[in-house]
Amino acid sequence: MKNLPIRSVTARQILDSRGLPTLEADVVLEDGSFGRAMVPSGASTGSHEAVELRDGDKEYFHGKGVTKALHSVNQEIAAAVKGKNAGDQTSLDEAMIRLDGTANKSKLGANAILSVSMAASRAAAASLKMPLYRYLRETFNLKLDSWILPTPMLNVINGGKHADSGLNIQEFMLVPTEASSFSEALRMASETYQTLKKILVSRNLSIGVGDEGGFAPHIPTHEEVLTLLSDAIAQAGYKEKIKIALDSAASEFYQNDAYIFESKKLSAKEMTARYKSWLEKYELISLEDPLSEDDWAGWKELTSELGHKCKIIGDDIFVTNPQRLSRGIKENVANSILIKLNQIGTLTETVETVLKAQKAGFSCVISHRSGETEDPYIADLTVALNAGAIKSGAPCRSERLAKYNQLIRIEEELGKQAAYSGFTPFRMKAAA
Ligand code: PGA
Ligand code: ZN
Repeated sequence: MKNLPIRSVTARQILDSRGLPTLEADVVLEDGSFGRAMVPSGASTGSHEAVELRDGDKEYFHGKGVTKALHSVNQEIAAAVKGKNAGDQTSLDEAMIRLDGTANKSKLGANAILSVSMAASRAAAASLKMPLYRYLRETFNLKLDSWILPTPMLNVINGGKHADSGLNIQEFMLVPTEASSFSEALRMASETYQTLKKILVSRNLSIGVGDEGGFAPHIPTHEEVLTLLSDAIAQAGYKEKIKIALDSAASEFYQNDAYIFESKKLSAKEMTARYKSWLEKYELISLEDPLSEDDWAGWKELTSELGHKCKIIGDDIFVTNPQRLSRGIKENVANSILIKLNQIGTLTETVETVLKAQKAGFSCVISHRSGETEDPYIADLTVALNAGAIKSGAPCRSERLAKYNQLIRIEEELGKQAAYSGFTPFRMKAAA
């Protein structure tokens, strides 16, 4: 491993895609190499996520300022990592975890730590003159013999906390599973998104978009949305080629031990029955956070009932945390995991969680947040890990497209070496 000492670390407060403050960090190495990274932010955040440090001063950005996290970077972290090897990501991340000293990174802030973790990897890649995806694969010593371009999961109807559509379910996604390349998959999804827009206009429904670029029409029932999506896919000419995925983000409509769904109080069993009936009627291939983040008993039953029919993805229940994932693996809860860097706060722990999931036969989806930036980091990370799937919102709004467009560039650069993931991450294991 080459020694790439860090000369300086500086952060600044910038604005994310919702216009709210977030952090950007710059790392400069002794050889002059430079790396910059921006941190995303969630809205339907899991309560077990690492702490995103915000100022809480109501007179300043309504409490959303990140100047405390900014000071963590510019003072404590900058002093602690000066001279450390940016090429040794694991030691660097461990040093920041030790410096913080809390279980959930609440002292320095996961946003502060992550900004430096990501920016350092970019600086190291720049110093070694390697594209980020190649550098990440090498620095984590991943022995992979292929380059997989991920299947995108594109959120085209926004509900829950991401829009005022009134829908309980947060995300309705298009998944182009039958395509010969990532670029073709994106084209298919884009055409379907435009077809969907025309259908909405023809029905006098709103075409304004939510936080992740999907439309946010007021449609009374979730079944009607599933029918609408199926119609758009068929009209665009992609029946059988584009499937549907949901992210319920169910913690957001879980109150007093019940799911408040379409204005009714439902139990986990009743929610499961609902999903089951949709799986029979629609081309649904994955359910993310179908139940609430601490409803382990409900999740266990849902997984045993539906886990052989489709992917059951844990987001808020696992929060990219290796310990929570271990419990899921042990207790047969879910069969797939959503991966978000800022839920855990370092690159090293994120990679650890992905490797643990892959080893257990769980598929991984690398994900953006609803509050994003123009930083395409997760595109490179997804390819580095051969994760197989990425979730970055609709084919609309540049902070969403930044990731998809970076994947177009990576696919071009890899040429014949690149293989499109397609249906692979959604394939169910044959019954034993
Ligand atoms: P968030 O939503 O970024 O608002 O948490 C994304 C998700 O739930 O997957
Ligand atoms: Zn989610």
